Amino acid sequence: MAEFQLGADFIPALHKPSALLPIAKHHDSLLYLIEKNPVTIVVGQTGSGKTTQIPQFLENAGWCSDGKIIAVTQPRRVAATTVAIRVAEEYGCELGKEVGYSIRFEDVTSASTKIKFLTDGLLIREALVDPLLSRYSVIMVDEAHERSISTDILLGLLKKIRKRRPELRIIISSATLQAEDFLNFFSQHSDNQEPSENGNDEVGSIISLEGRMYPVDVLYLESPTENYVEKAISTVFEIHTKEPDGDILVFLTGREEIDTAVQAVAERAAQLPSSSQPILALPLYAGLSTEQQMFVFDSPPENTRKVIFSTNIAEASVTIDGIVYVIDSGFVKLRAFDPRTSIESLTATRVSKAAASQRAGRAGRTKPGKCFRLYTEKAFQALPDANIPEIQRSNLAPFILQLKALGIDNVVRFDYLTPPPAELMIKATELLFSLGALDEYAKLTKPLGMRMAELAVEPMMAKTLLTASSFNCLSEILTIAAMTSLGGSIWIQIEGEKRQVESARRKFAAEEGDHLTLLNVYQAFITKGKKESKFCHENHLNFKAMTRAVSIRAQLKRYLERFGIAVDESLKTPATNKGEQIRRCLTTGYFAHAARMQPDGSFRNIEGGTMLHAHPSSLMFNRKADWVIFHEVMETGSKIFIRDISKIEKGWLVEYASGYYQLKS
Ligand code: CDP
Ligand code: MG
Repeated sequence: MAEFQLGADFIPALHKPSALLPIAKHHDSLLYLIEKNPVTIVVGQTGSGKTTQIPQFLENAGWCSDGKIIAVTQPRRVAATTVAIRVAEEYGCELGKEVGYSIRFEDVTSASTKIKFLTDGLLIREALVDPLLSRYSVIMVDEAHERSISTDILLGLLKKIRKRRPELRIIISSATLQAEDFLNFFSQHSDNQEPSENGNDEVGSIISLEGRMYPVDVLYLESPTENYVEKAISTVFEIHTKEPDGDILVFLTGREEIDTAVQAVAERAAQLPSSSQPILALPLYAGLSTEQQMFVFDSPPENTRKVIFSTNIAEASVTIDGIVYVIDSGFVKLRAFDPRTSIESLTATRVSKAAASQRAGRAGRTKPGKCFRLYTEKAFQALPDANIPEIQRSNLAPFILQLKALGIDNVVRFDYLTPPPAELMIKATELLFSLGALDEYAKLTKPLGMRMAELAVEPMMAKTLLTASSFNCLSEILTIAAMTSLGGSIWIQIEGEKRQVESARRKFAAEEGDHLTLLNVYQAFITKGKKESKFCHENHLNFKAMTRAVSIRAQLKRYLERFGIAVDESLKTPATNKGEQIRRCLTTGYFAHAARMQPDGSFRNIEGGTMLHAHPSSLMFNRKADWVIFHEVMETGSKIFIRDISKIEKGWLVEYASGYYQLKS
């Protein structure tokens, strides 16, 4: 008889059985606590099973039985999608059926959805139509330790909703030990609320899932490095040639650094002797497509070492198995809003001690690991304990607008986990007033302010869209709004093909700036590119991004139609002054983002204090202009870049925003 061949009849399990996750042994106590308490705070190491298992436990235990839904919020879109894919797989359903996700402009749920992953920003938006969030039996606020601005606002709302919906269950999950703060927040009576009749009621409890962690050796640099990207790459090869098996996770700050590093590793790996072990470098950041993001979860080809270069997405939000080595640059991109200049940017900032130890922990999930910190031990000691919550360093205009639309008029007295600085509140109110969203009593205007809050774009774009019909350019502004909401680039930039992309882009270029150029690209895509696949290829355009723009545009159009605003799409011969009308219309929304070109080619904002540079991706890069408005400020290193820039005339600022500029002088 042939020998029994073990390998032949067995295939490896698709997933580690969830029964082996640390959370499994807490199954009963978790369900008991959630049943008993309105608020449950779950603290556990990343990877212990909070995000993927808790919603399934709840669904199994009948929390969806009366047609209600379990919501799990994430601060990041990437996390919401990847986690939903995983849970749908474990649950055994098609994505969008029992398990789905919903992020801005992308709803993958259906009538049968029971477990829904969504961004916390989107759940706040849902409260506009369903103020008590009555579709949900349980709301789990995941990654609460990150203290994103939307998480903080959502927690404040949930605290209010809880009073009206005692049956609602709130779960707050956190990877760090801030649990007490969250519980105190929910237990305290805010000063403007009556205490409930039984006085100091018990609202909740904390459960800690002591996840299994292996020791991680932490190593520091002896002297600081000038270039952490380069140091990270050389450290990858040190590990690769000297250390035993195990994958590497490298924390950098953003897309540009990550792309550079992935490229460099691929190039240098090709120079290794052919006998050496292969190494596979992969990127992970928010701008990637879902398919590209999923690569990092696949196991590499046999005998290959995987190295993932990631933003802080991999810090807690997503878990990648097999990581034994972590390289920590010590930096993270954080939002920072300067109330003097009204400029919000993403700036590379030192991580906090909490984040650094969270990063190191990623190395010890499956066996003992090592963490290489690309800074000195002295530098580590000087790090702040925790990051400043986002609410204290962001542009608050979108949130104030939403709170007002939710009927919370006194936004200063809103119950914040950490109150934002007065300066930021004033600044945001000022902007909303100048946009016409608030009246002189700081009340939401109707219909303008209310509609601005409902539109899924930031207030300046919302205002632009809602004024577009009076400039006879609604169809065009809809396109511009969609094209500027994409997040990623519409151009496919392959290293070494910069020139070709440049010349493709020039074909669509409009003298007046980037907005009209985007419009040209979109119109060419609609007339040719949708049908001919070679159109995108020849023009270095990203077909997926363009298709997304079409879908976003349709969604924005539906919002407008719901407001009773008709969109005239007839392709009349464009009026001769169409371009001017569009730029005037943009000025009514973007006056706060006005700047003037200096003789040296850089820009200054109105106050003159801040030096801005046209981003190399802009048409205005290396071109002459006078006054311009811009859509956004890009990642900053030593320079502040502005992107999506259009020429305007100074007189228009006076015409459409005299109040705003007077306020400041
Ligand atoms: O939320 P928490 O960090 O506590 O853990 P989780 O995200 O629920 O992950 C539990 C387990 O599922 C871990 O072992 C992950 O490696 C695995 N997982 C995965 O393999 N792929 C995903 N997309 C998500 C989780
Ligand atoms: Mg999680």
